[in-house]
Amino acid sequence: MKDTTSLVALSLVSGRVIGVAITRVNSDSDKSDTYNRVQNFEGNLEKIMSLISALMKQADAYKELECDAYFRVHILCVHPSYQQKDIGAALLNACVRVTSTLNLAAIGGVFTSGRSQSLALKLGLRLVSEIRYSRWIVDDQVVFDGTGKGNYSAAFMGMRVPSEESLRRS
Ligand SMILES: *[C@@H]1O[C@H](CO)[C@@H](O)[C@H](O)[C@H]1NC(C)=O
Repeated sequence: MKDTTSLVALSLVSGRVIGVAITRVNSDSDKSDTYNRVQNFEGNLEKIMSLISALMKQADAYKELECDAYFRVHILCVHPSYQQKDIGAALLNACVRVTSTLNLAAIGGVFTSGRSQSLALKLGLRLVSEIRYSRWIVDDQVVFDGTGKGNYSAAFMGMRVPSEESLRRS
């Protein structure tokens, strides 16, 4: 967990946590993409982890983003009663700025709902790789069959980010 960072959005009115982004610097050399060091997931969490592992393998993030380290957004979530208020966009935007500040070449993350995917697109992240829920079949069964209208796939999305250093030079 040594490189784990997290960003928290607080309500100015109540001071309550209304959104959180859990992030980490992923680098090619320490193979931090895979979750195989943690084998104790059970039930739904295990199902989600195996989907994300397959997606990450398929995505080939370092090659696609042309880097050997990138800022990975693991979890981006906003309290349901604040979802209309661009908190997600603000958090993801803050992640992009942190990427630049850390002089990392790229940002990337797995987005599992239609809403979060369009948010990422809006901020400039592009689709690198996706697995459609209807095609994710284990033991002849569609594993995620109740994802709802608009939620069709888990997508790894990312983009290169200019470093703060290079911005200062130009
Ligand atoms: C799509 O996924 C989001 C996030 O998991 C969820 O809140 C939403 O209810 C889903 N949409 C539908 C129509 O079920």
